[in-house]
Amino acid sequence: MCGIVGVTGNLKARDILMEGLHRLEYRGYDSAGVAMMDSSGTVRRARAAGKVANLGAELTDEIIGQTGIAHTRWATHGAATRENAHPHTAGRVTLVHNGIIENYKNLRVDLAAQGRDFSSETDTEVLAHLLDSAIASTGDPRTALLATLGKLEGAFAFAAIIEGEPDLLLGACRGAPLVAATGPSSGFLASDIMAITGAAQTVIYLHEGDAVIVRPNQVEVFDTAGQRVERPAAPAPTSLVLAEKGNYRHFMQKEIYEQPEVVGHTLSGYLDPVAGEVRPREGIDFSAASRLLIVGCGTASYAGQIAEYWFEALAGLPVEVDIASEFRYRKPAFMPNDVALFISQSGETADTLEAMRMCKAAGLTTIVLVNSPLSTMAREADIVAPTMAGPEIGVASTKAFTCQLGSLAALAVLAGVQRGRIDAAEQASHVTRLMGIPGLMAQALRIEDQINHLAGELAQASIVLYLGRNEFFPMAMEGALKLKEISYIHAEGYAAGELKHGPIALIEDDVAVIVIAPYDELFTKTRSSIQEVRARGARVIAITDDLGAAALDGEASAIITLPRAEGLAAPLVAAVAVQLLAYYVAVHKGTDVDQPRNLAKSVTVE
Ligand code: F6R
Repeated sequence: MCGIVGVTGNLKARDILMEGLHRLEYRGYDSAGVAMMDSSGTVRRARAAGKVANLGAELTDEIIGQTGIAHTRWATHGAATRENAHPHTAGRVTLVHNGIIENYKNLRVDLAAQGRDFSSETDTEVLAHLLDSAIASTGDPRTALLATLGKLEGAFAFAAIIEGEPDLLLGACRGAPLVAATGPSSGFLASDIMAITGAAQTVIYLHEGDAVIVRPNQVEVFDTAGQRVERPAAPAPTSLVLAEKGNYRHFMQKEIYEQPEVVGHTLSGYLDPVAGEVRPREGIDFSAASRLLIVGCGTASYAGQIAEYWFEALAGLPVEVDIASEFRYRKPAFMPNDVALFISQSGETADTLEAMRMCKAAGLTTIVLVNSPLSTMAREADIVAPTMAGPEIGVASTKAFTCQLGSLAALAVLAGVQRGRIDAAEQASHVTRLMGIPGLMAQALRIEDQINHLAGELAQASIVLYLGRNEFFPMAMEGALKLKEISYIHAEGYAAGELKHGPIALIEDDVAVIVIAPYDELFTKTRSSIQEVRARGARVIAITDDLGAAALDGEASAIITLPRAEGLAAPLVAAVAVQLLAYYVAVHKGTDVDQPRNLAKSVTVE
């Protein structure tokens, strides 16, 4: 959420910063800005509302230099206007910032009393004034930085440059990620290493509460007590993997199509198909667990809700799934031997991260199922269970979700084995079924044309309801989330059995109902829901398999027939259909599929 990049040294700042902004744009795209310091120490900036492309038009020839900072914004305080775009300047300080300074109103009152004027409504400008005021009074950037940090409340990361200090970047992070890096005769700050991949050689992932001073080829880190500390430096990645759109129209489309490959890759990390076993993962032991707590946000929480059915059915392990933003504030009652599993694509989602820290502090074993191996959650969890989706750029999660499901399915089988509920033969049969998922997903992708056709009509609906039972209830919520995120059509997912308890009142002619109804033991029950909504005039699209299609014969308005998938495989195959449906509805509506309005990829503020 929001992207920061900063550079100092012997490189052309403009090239590094603009390239970094393009790479970070998926994190927030309400507005963007850059500031650069020329050789005389003068700072000039350009800002624009909207996407990074708009910023290009604002860059005049004199905005050049070798030291600079840049930002792509997802608005928290103040509208997404040019005036509120970062960087903000106050006196000698120019600054970009992610997150929220919670006490900015009080700080602003104090600073105004000192005679400081503000030109925006943002907390960032308050931070810039605070740092400038500290520099003016101490004369020393390091002392000023540490003094400023002592006055801030909230979760944030920032990068600053100071007029007249051409070789200096200042930064800090608390509850939001920031990396410091060096290259030959250069230094960098970034909210995501991706922004500076290729330019940086050595990277330091800053710890919670760190302050940092970066000069060409030199990084000094200070901990929360203001003490100089050495943080481990690692070689920076040298290339951006898979972050190009290739021949696809959108990243989301590409990411939907990558699923057979990346789900296969993820599963092969968890399964040994020759032995017919789930590979044990060091530290993961469900045998004595009294309960599994699963915590995540949005799509990740739906993956957790699907897994709840699996862990309970296969391992007899009680599961509680929570939305991280609720979990962290509701004072959960922990039990001895609770195991806590956190699910996150980015590994940076503020609420999930804080929920994880809370569980760690309570003494629980924390496992993170995470797609970004260098993220804060990956670094802080006791145990990392990786998903191998590769970088997911489309804001609406697709391949990360199905990779999460693949890993969770394998872990549920592992739990069943560890708890003595699954014998060797059953384990081997689950492993075979799981290994078959990539092939089934590849077959499912072949329904693209039919879905595209149906999506044209669905795009006219005023409301879309998704219904499902068992694992297909959370899948219904995930389908609805995908649709609303990228097509802006109001959509909700319900347990099919709940229909009569309220949602059926919504049914009228321009309401469409998508029913996820594989031919399983609950098929006939879900079929009743189809009949109920059809009888009241709704257009019903059934997502099923060949057996379901034959049984429904004429009962639904349209049928999407997926390859037949059983047990743990079925939700992953159904996911392809709900993703393609949302994607093509959005394409028909002409929305910005990869960067839908008001959203950001990585939500690093609560
Ligand atoms: C929806 C979506 C979001 C994320 C949520 C959690 O398509 O992508 O709901 O799933 O913001 O993000 P991570 O997984 O990065 O913690």
